[in-house]
Amino acid sequence: MSKFDFYQQLNAQISAVICDESDTIANMANISALLFEHLPDINWAGFYRKQGQELVLGPFQGQVACIRIALDKGVCGAAATSKQTQRIADVHQFDGHIACDARTNSELVIPVIYAGEVIAVLDIDSTHFERFDEDDQKGLEATVALLVKNMK
Ligand code: SME
Repeated sequence: MSKFDFYQQLNAQISAVICDESDTIANMANISALLFEHLPDINWAGFYRKQGQELVLGPFQGQVACIRIALDKGVCGAAATSKQTQRIADVHQFDGHIACDARTNSELVIPVIYAGEVIAVLDIDSTHFERFDEDDQKGLEATVALLVKNMK
């Protein structure tokens, strides 16, 4: 199956699960579970929610993670402040990367933007180098769009 088809199917399933639910934390929880179950070669999938000048751990699947990340720290902070997806092929080359899990080698972080403001980030980690390509980025940005669509 092509990655395009894979993400079409995954996002159709996510759309069916979140349906017309508007509780963002509940939707983040189910999205984390579906991503962790279906994405191959990942070791963490979840959300950090923006609270003031920090990102605070939200619903996730995987090992225990750092609870608070300052906005000027880490890949997550870079995604939140730049409002741009960060696709990092080798986290060890990223200045300021926060190693919650020492096994992580690549990372994709997508800002969740509602009404022009970053309200959270979706963070996905892999033990593989260069785990995420442009197709993964597009597919997972579409996942985040499904979450935003249901916010009220
Ligand atoms: N590595 C992230 C921190 C979050 S954990 O990977 C779950 C970062 O540098 O922002």
